Amino acid sequence: MKPILIKDLLTSEPDARAVTVCGWVRTKRDSKNLVFIQVNDGSCFASIQLTFDRTNPAQGADANSIEESLKNINTGTSVRAEGALVQSPASGQAVEVIITKLTVLGLCPPETYPLQKKNMSMEYLRDNAHLRARTNTFGAVFRMRSQMAMALHTFFQERGFVYISAPEITCSDAEGAGEMFQVTTLSLEKIAELGIKAGAKGMDPAKAADLVDYSKDFFGKKANLTVSGQLEAETLATALSRVYTFGPTFRAENSNTPRHLSEFWMCEPEMAFFDLFDNMDLEEEFIKYLLNWALTKCADDMQFFEKRIQPGVIAQLQHVVDTPFKRISYTDAVKELEKYNDKFEFPISWGKELQTEHERYLTEQIFKSPVMVYNYPKDVKAFYMKQNDDGKTVRAVDVLVPGLGEITGGSEREEDYDKLLKVCEERGMDMKNYQWYLDLRRFGTVPHSGFGLGFARLLRYITGMANIRDVIPYPRAPKLADF
Ligand code: 4AD
Ligand code: MG
Repeated sequence: MKPILIKDLLTSEPDARAVTVCGWVRTKRDSKNLVFIQVNDGSCFASIQLTFDRTNPAQGADANSIEESLKNINTGTSVRAEGALVQSPASGQAVEVIITKLTVLGLCPPETYPLQKKNMSMEYLRDNAHLRARTNTFGAVFRMRSQMAMALHTFFQERGFVYISAPEITCSDAEGAGEMFQVTTLSLEKIAELGIKAGAKGMDPAKAADLVDYSKDFFGKKANLTVSGQLEAETLATALSRVYTFGPTFRAENSNTPRHLSEFWMCEPEMAFFDLFDNMDLEEEFIKYLLNWALTKCADDMQFFEKRIQPGVIAQLQHVVDTPFKRISYTDAVKELEKYNDKFEFPISWGKELQTEHERYLTEQIFKSPVMVYNYPKDVKAFYMKQNDDGKTVRAVDVLVPGLGEITGGSEREEDYDKLLKVCEERGMDMKNYQWYLDLRRFGTVPHSGFGLGFARLLRYITGMANIRDVIPYPRAPKLADF
């Protein structure tokens, strides 16, 4: 008989019908006559209870064989059980399974099973990332990840957006920050060898780069992993009108913080004919939609995050859902913040990028609501943003939420060919890699806008997990690529 997911069993009528349950044992309680086994299959937060009554085994139960299996059941053992789904007399659970058959699928020796200990630290669980999904915490986190993926697809699909995939391997630098992982099939050892030989002949070290012949590399030129799918999304938005990407992005910034990953998923909607304020409307609607989904459709897991991970997280999310986002220009935001400069590690003044401490002060202390800061100084933002007439600012917007700071970043894009080209040249960009991007401004250019949501940052916010490395199954960060 095919097993039924525990999530479905727990909401079924206890009509004594025969069912099969499969999963991993959480606990076993064996008193003289009664045995209770809690089995979890990760389909939901709760486990189901299997019950065996020695004085009164269920009809058709093979008591001897069940006793044999029981000897081998420990925390972590994988089992398959058959029995009758009945109403549970115990409090806190509606149904349980009175077993007629119990098969051990895989032993789990308690002496060596890494998840035996009580109160395992997050660091310890990170070292055992291949097993940590079996804990309450990581089960809840990974179910939430799946739910948020579904939520974002639903949001955009319901609004006529087309889902697109941007390439992972590119020759452009979408953010112009130079924080990229190179992709190459050239042999570093061979090149080093060449260098040693050339060095022996008295080669000028400044010419070392000439030893690398990129025409011989896999793509015939220097390539890297993408930092953002935005530029490609723009090309598709200027054909399909409203699109979104959802895929992995990579950043080689040497940031060893609880907020940075080297590989993370990003969702980047891009809309033709949207100006900055249309973009802001959509961002607000989107963020509220995602948080509301978590609160209403994932209530059990949210209760767990509230109780065990971050007390207050539910109220924090509900506040974002219920409160209109305050909109303020960067210039006005800096005027507000300057009043509190004695409170900051890095005092703020016009022209500087906002640090997390400033972002959080704006949203948590000054406005006590989510905040959208727009029209940033052009020098602190990326090359593609639309320039304002003041010659100093660009039409960027960052959304800041209490407890986190920036959750999304976006902008209206520069659609004027000459203006865009001038900025690219001023920034010393290698224009041969961006001709296709400039072409959009030559052939039927339109106003357009978009933004990016860091998926791991969103999950960290929703779950209350302190470290971003604990909201992705296998985190990648400086000096960390295990598993
Ligand atoms: O602000 P960012 O750099 O913006 C872009 O990449 C634009 N192309 C977006 C767009 O307009 N289409 O990154 C977007 C979001 C940030 O708001 C943040 O949530 C997340 O990506 N992010 C990171 N998340 C985890 N680890 C990192 N190292 C991150 N860097 C950015
Ligand atoms: Mg940003």
